[in-house]
Amino acid sequence: MNLIPENIEEYCVNHSTRISNLARNLMDYTRSNIHGSQMLIGEMEASLFTFLIQFGGVKKILELGTYTGFSSLIMAEALPDDGEIITIDINPHTTEIAKKYWAESPHSKKIKLILRPGPEALAEIHQEFDLIFIDADKNNYPHYLKWATEHLSQNGLIISDNTLWSGKVLQDGLDKQTDSIRKHNKEAFELEGFTKTLLPIRDGIFLITRNK
Ligand SMILES: C[S@@+](CC[C@H](N)C(=O)[O-])C[C@H]1O[C@@H](n2cnc3c(N)ncnc32)[C@H](O)[C@@H]1O
Repeated sequence: MNLIPENIEEYCVNHSTRISNLARNLMDYTRSNIHGSQMLIGEMEASLFTFLIQFGGVKKILELGTYTGFSSLIMAEALPDDGEIITIDINPHTTEIAKKYWAESPHSKKIKLILRPGPEALAEIHQEFDLIFIDADKNNYPHYLKWATEHLSQNGLIISDNTLWSGKVLQDGLDKQTDSIRKHNKEAFELEGFTKTLLPIRDGIFLITRNK
C-alpha cells in the first residue's frame, strides 16, 4: 500500500535523483513479468536510499530480501568503488533474474548474493555493516532487528521496510505477520542508545541509528 497520493509521489520522484536506465529496465521487467512486484522498493525509496548511502558515506551493506535485485542494484550504484553489499534471499527463480540484470552493471562486482534463509545466513556472518536493510520475511523482523543492532557499525543505519504494513500495524492480533511487524516496531522504539524515526513513506520505512 502507498500512503502518499500517487500524484504527490510522482511529483517527488520527478524532483529527486532518478534511477539508472538499467534499474528502470529491471523494475519494468519485474512489474510486467514477476508475481509480487509490489514488493519492489520503487523509485521514491530508491532516491531516499541513494541519498542516505551517499550522505552517510556508507561502504558496507547487508540486505535481507533480494527479490529480483532492484534494491541491491540501486544500493550498489550508490556505493563507492570499494563498497560492497551482501544480499540474502531464498528464491532461486527471482534471484536468477537479479543476477542477469546485475551482470549488465559495472557495479555488479560490489554485490554478493547468499541463497539461504535469512536466520541461517546471518548466523554465519560475523562482521559489521554501515547499512542493514530489512526487507525479507515479516515473521523474522524482530530477529533481524536484534541481529542488526548487534552488527551495526558505529555510524551505521538500519532501514526496515513495510513497517506500516498497509496500516494494519494499528491493530493488534490481526495475523502473524502483522503482529511480528508490530513487535519489531515496539522493540525498535524501545531500543536504548538509538535514535529512531518511522516514516509514512510508501508502506512505512523505519530508520534506526546509534546515538552519537
Ligand atoms: C519484499 S521482497 C524484497 C524486495 C527487494 N528488496 C526490492 O525492493 O527489490 C522480499 C523477499 O524476501 C524473500 N524471503 C522470504 N522469506 C525469506 C527468508 N526466510 N529468508 C530470506 N529471504 C526470504 C522473498 O523470496 C522475497 O524475494
